Amino acid sequence: MRRLIVLAAAVASASSLLGAADAALIERGKAEEKRCVGCHSLTIIGSQRLSKTGWERELDKMVRWGSDIKDREALMAYLVATYGDGKPMPKPTLSADASASK
Ligand code: HEC
Repeated sequence: MRRLIVLAAAVASASSLLGAADAALIERGKAEEKRCVGCHSLTIIGSQRLSKTGWERELDKMVRWGSDIKDREALMAYLVATYGDGKPMPKPTLSADASASK
C-alpha cells in the first residue's frame, strides 16, 4: 500500500513538472508570436483554428513568404495550445453600430 502511495506521488510530481515545462514553452511561443506583426496583425492568427499539421503548414507558408521564425518549437506549442482545432471559435467582430448588413 505504501509503495502505491509513493508511486502515485512520484507520478503526480512528474506530471506537474511537465506542466510547468509546457507553460514556459507556451510563454516563449507567445513572445515569438509578437514577431509576426511585421506583415499583419495578430488577429489574423487568433481567428484561426488549426490542427497541429495545419499550423505546421501555415508556418511553412509564412516562412516561404519571408517570415523569420527563431523559436519555432515554442511557437508551435503556443499556437496548438491556444488556437488548436479543438478550441471554440472566437466571436465574430461586428461593425461599430452592428448595422452594416441592414
Ligand atoms: C513576410 C510577411 C509575413 C510575416 C512576417 C508573417 N506573415 Fe502571416 N501572412 C502574410 C500574408 C501576406 C498573409 C495573407 C494576408 C491576407 O490574406 O490578408 C498572411 C496570413 C496569415 C494567416 C491567415 C491565414 C492565411 O494563410 O492567409 C495566418 C494564420 C498567418 N499569416 C500566420 C502568421 C504567423 C504565425 C506569423 C509569424 C510566425 C506570420 N504569419 C508572419 C505574411 C506574413
